[in-house]
Amino acid sequence: MRFSAIAAAVTGLLSIASAAPTKRQSASTDIDAIILQYALTLEHLENAFYKKALSMWDQASFVEAGFNASIYNDLKYIAHDEEGHVVYLEAGLTAAGAMPVAACTYDFPMTTPKEFIALASVIEGVGVSAYLGAAPLVTSKAYLSAAGAILVTEALHQSTTRGAIGEIPMANVFGTPMGINATYSIASAFITSCPSTNMALPVAAYPALTLVSGSPTAPSALIDLEPKTMPSGTYYATFVSGLDIVAVAPQSSSNGMIMVPVPAMVSGQGYVFLTKDNSGNLTDSNILAGPAILEVTPSSPTFNLTIT
Ligand SMILES: *[C@@H]1O[C@H](CO)[C@@H](O)[C@H](O)[C@H]1NC(C)=O
Ligand SMILES: *[C@@H]1O[C@H](CO)[C@@H](O)[C@H](O)[C@H]1NC(C)=O
Ligand SMILES: *[C@@H]1O[C@H](CO)[C@@H](O)[C@H](O)[C@H]1NC(C)=O
Ligand SMILES: *[C@@H]1O[C@H](CO)[C@@H](O)[C@H](O)[C@H]1NC(C)=O
Repeated sequence: MRFSAIAAAVTGLLSIASAAPTKRQSASTDIDAIILQYALTLEHLENAFYKKALSMWDQASFVEAGFNASIYNDLKYIAHDEEGHVVYLEAGLTAAGAMPVAACTYDFPMTTPKEFIALASVIEGVGVSAYLGAAPLVTSKAYLSAAGAILVTEALHQSTTRGAIGEIPMANVFGTPMGINATYSIASAFITSCPSTNMALPVAAYPALTLVSGSPTAPSALIDLEPKTMPSGTYYATFVSGLDIVAVAPQSSSNGMIMVPVPAMVSGQGYVFLTKDNSGNLTDSNILAGPAILEVTPSSPTFNLTIT
């Protein structure tokens, strides 16, 4: 597919958005088109994920697993939202004569309602990170607004699912932006295969990095990371949480395992990469592996009742 066709598709999407501006954007660019197709890739994944779970478990299953009966209703709304995101993105592309990427086949590691809700909280967090990370790349303001509208809903899903498993929903002052290849590294682990007719997106997964020790963890606790291949030479663990990026030197490594302390800035769902340097630059050339996902229980909230 030509990029111009995809660019036209983005324009088409904007023209059907109910909240879209009345003036069409004339200069949607290649990168906007790619982001649109990438967003649809993630929405297909989420859509399939909730449908799979809701076809496996009914309300009684969630109650038996210890959840409040109300979670089932919330999950049905979440499934409705994800389907709505898919339909919205597909309709925009199709109306403009472009071919939206189709759903893939997936493999989600969940055998109990509890594992499902825990995985849902992680996947929603990754969705939030994907939209936030793509935001500065979007050139069309109207498209940015549409992406923001989807992002808000994903954050509400994250909040509900975190709350359901006893995690503080708003564990960080900020959401955590991450680059396309970083979020794709996580998403692609759930993708078994995609139709060959899908447009090839310029995304690639980094080499895998696995968090071996327990989660949730705490600031300054030591965690064990297992890279697929042990890096040779100097490397660092670069943590991303909220708007902060901090690189730390590993404390030790042995038997294919790297031990690193969790920096104090990580709160809630955070990410860690192995990087060549400690610049905090999360570029393709600096990233060796990752991200691994970690959950850090936030410390008690502090605030000041004095209004200045
Ligand atoms: C379930 O959630 C509803 C709505 O938040 C609340 O009113 C109710 O008390 C909860 N039930 C239990 C058993 O926690
Ligand atoms: C993602 O990876 C692809 C393939 O390596 C690369 O072409 C692209 O520039 C990367 N994208 C970003 C935003 O780094
Ligand atoms: C990050 O990478 C860019 C481009 O290579 C470089 O100009 C910049 O100095 C780097 N930042 C740090 C903190 O190393
Ligand atoms: C709270 O606000 C007061 C008044 O501005 C200030 O003196 C104090 O340092 C603040 N405390 C903190 C923890 O920010």
